[in-house]
Amino acid sequence: MGWCGLRGLRYSGRDSSLQTGPTMSEQQKMEPPQEGDHVVVLTGAGISADSGLATFRGGGGLWEGHRVEDVATPEAWARDPATVWRFYQMRRAALLDVEPNAGHRALAELERALPERGACLTLISQNVDDLHQRAGSTVLSMHGQLQRLRCETCGYFQDGLQYLDTEAFLPCPKCEDPSLRPDIVWFGEMPYKLEAIENAMFEVTHFLACGTSGAVYPASGLLSTARSVGAQTFVNALDAPENLGSRDVFLQGSASSVLPRWVAEFLAS
Ligand code: OAD
Repeated sequence: MGWCGLRGLRYSGRDSSLQTGPTMSEQQKMEPPQEGDHVVVLTGAGISADSGLATFRGGGGLWEGHRVEDVATPEAWARDPATVWRFYQMRRAALLDVEPNAGHRALAELERALPERGACLTLISQNVDDLHQRAGSTVLSMHGQLQRLRCETCGYFQDGLQYLDTEAFLPCPKCEDPSLRPDIVWFGEMPYKLEAIENAMFEVTHFLACGTSGAVYPASGLLSTARSVGAQTFVNALDAPENLGSRDVFLQGSASSVLPRWVAEFLAS
């Protein structure tokens, strides 16, 4: 695992050995959760799309309206902090108008149900919204959180602010650095929770990637890690992501309709 980076910058096109996986109707039978199993789910922006939050790539995506280099790098924060601040605080404000959807709720239900079978779930999210948390999940947020701010000088974290002025910086209450930064992992920075993620991937028996295009490393590498340790692998997205493999079961469709069915089938199996 390593620095957060766009896969496309070092790797172009699709691996020719990768093909679209079997669809739901062709899939091998889902192995039911058993004592000691460890289910790992990785989510991306697609799971929150049905709640009304924009994804990053594709038509109307956040990276169509903004250049990554202008808003999602430490260099952008140093060069033009006002633009970076406005970008993240507007996205933070948008959280006040959205709710978790059936996809988020299904994963929270899975987390509650698995321990009754002696199994467990690790939920890893690249998302910086708080919809998993509001649905009741415990989340490893590897790219940070919109609602958190952090001081680059003294390391202080500021949580729990409902509303922020999108035009005015907030000084650090501890060391008086004039501007707390969004607690977001920018390109070139180290994602959070890598040790916990690595530990979960040592034990994974079932892996689901949901709503992620597989474009950003190291999150994009988790699917192939899961395959390499023999886990059953599932992928849910609207379009086949670039890291989809021939052995993955591809569950095409919106997360809010696919995940409740997938979780119900899994727990009934
Ligand atoms: P992307 O925008 O790259 O990909 C969204 C994925 O969700 C695509 O595969 C879509 O097919 C799928 N999708 C869209 N709507 C969906 C729906 N309703 N149900 C299910 N799937 C749906 O978003 P991410 O993969 O999350 O990082 O992007 C990864 C990272 O790139 C982000 O965390 C962010 C960004 O740059 C940083 O800013 C560090």
